[in-house]
Amino acid sequence: MTLHASWTWRSKDGPGPAGQRLRYEPGSWGDVLKGLVIAHLAPVLRAQHGQLRVADLFAGAPDYPCERATRERLAMAAETRFARTLTGDRFPSTATLVRASVPDATLTVTDRDPERRALWFGQGVTLFDEDDGYTALESLEPSAFELVLVDPYDLAEPSRSATALPAVRRLAQRTTLLLYAYWKSTAAAFAHHVAFAHALGPCGLVVRLPSDALLPRGWHEVRVLGPALPPLDAIVAEVRDVAARLLLPACATVLR
Ligand SMILES: C[S@@+](CC[C@H](N)C(=O)[O-])C[C@H]1O[C@@H](n2cnc3c(N)ncnc32)[C@H](O)[C@@H]1O
Repeated sequence: MTLHASWTWRSKDGPGPAGQRLRYEPGSWGDVLKGLVIAHLAPVLRAQHGQLRVADLFAGAPDYPCERATRERLAMAAETRFARTLTGDRFPSTATLVRASVPDATLTVTDRDPERRALWFGQGVTLFDEDDGYTALESLEPSAFELVLVDPYDLAEPSRSATALPAVRRLAQRTTLLLYAYWKSTAAAFAHHVAFAHALGPCGLVVRLPSDALLPRGWHEVRVLGPALPPLDAIVAEVRDVAARLLLPACATVLR
């Protein structure tokens, strides 16, 4: 196990892993965190509602190459329900993981990137007419979905959260949302994080993991909001376990 288990901020091969043109490497600690939450939340919501209709407004691609750094991270999360869901040599997007956890879930997806959006054709999902996830968020009908996934790159940017959070709050009165944001370790981000949490109001669950074990440049954060959330303690226990495996070796090391 490598102590760093870090993730490259941007792929060394260019603006994203070859062929994917993603901003960040798939399988970052943020993706692991989302996976931990979804692998528990999706079956629990399915049991609670008798069905699971999911809106994924920033769906990315169905899956991604599973690179070496990703495998190292997954080894540190090996005991989790999320890791046990993984099969094959591809890293699943959140929507694909929903289907792995709840096979009869229905998905309605969009992504602004035309190539990633096109990869959903023929995958047994419905596509929103709207490419833009934030626009779709504004007009989403909460009674049509038991779970809404909101994991763009830029939710932590003040201009973005100012417009998106009112729509999130409206939806959270009637349905469950999973929100992902990446917070850079800067004073400005710290100040905005406080304002963001205040504007959002109470969340049923807030979990976060650092970008890497040593001097993290930022934090991945997932929030779950909704009117009648089921118990989510198992998620907290798993995130704490993974965080301990990631962080504790970096906190105290004896060199001989
Ligand atoms: C962090 S990735 C998440 C991908 C996916 N949910 C997953 O789990 O793999 C963010 C995705 O949001 C897409 N995106 C960014 N801005 C968007 C927008 N305004 N509307 C729709 N998609 C957007 C990007 O193209 C990218 O695929």
